[in-house]
Amino acid sequence: MTKTTLAAALAAAALASAAPAGAAVSAMDEHWLTAAIQGDQWEISGAKIALAKSHNTAVRRLARTLLRDHTKSRAETTALAVKLGVKPPTASTHIQQWELAIVSSLKGRAFNRWYAAMEIADHHGDIAEAYEEAGDGHVTAVRKAALQEVPDLRKHLALARLAWAHS
Ligand SMILES: [Fe+2]
Repeated sequence: MTKTTLAAALAAAALASAAPAGAAVSAMDEHWLTAAIQGDQWEISGAKIALAKSHNTAVRRLARTLLRDHTKSRAETTALAVKLGVKPPTASTHIQQWELAIVSSLKGRAFNRWYAAMEIADHHGDIAEAYEEAGDGHVTAVRKAALQEVPDLRKHLALARLAWAHS
């Protein structure tokens, strides 16, 4: 290492240690935190709709599990976002709200099928996004949080597939 490179490295290290906690968050970390919280909110709202509308045992089991796990995940991810200086979203996206409005308009078997199918598709996406953040994110705490979600997301995917098979 040349003298100039060493000086630059030392300056960079000094900057990094002096930087506020939020400064280290990359755009990808911020996107994952925001999308995860919006996704949690969407799962919670969807589960409440399913519990109000469905009498199907497998669908209700899926909804109860999603409600419990995503309520916990929303609290944890929101706390992490705040700690890192990322403003947590307070609602799911307009497209997510539109999806719930559509599924809410269905009843009986049609509701059960579409709710289960929506949760299968959603959890495929969530698992892929969690692995992307765990692999390519910047802040270790966010990468870890993403990876820690994967077992629950896999469990949800399996329950959604069961709900689909039994509806
Ligand atoms: Fe989930």
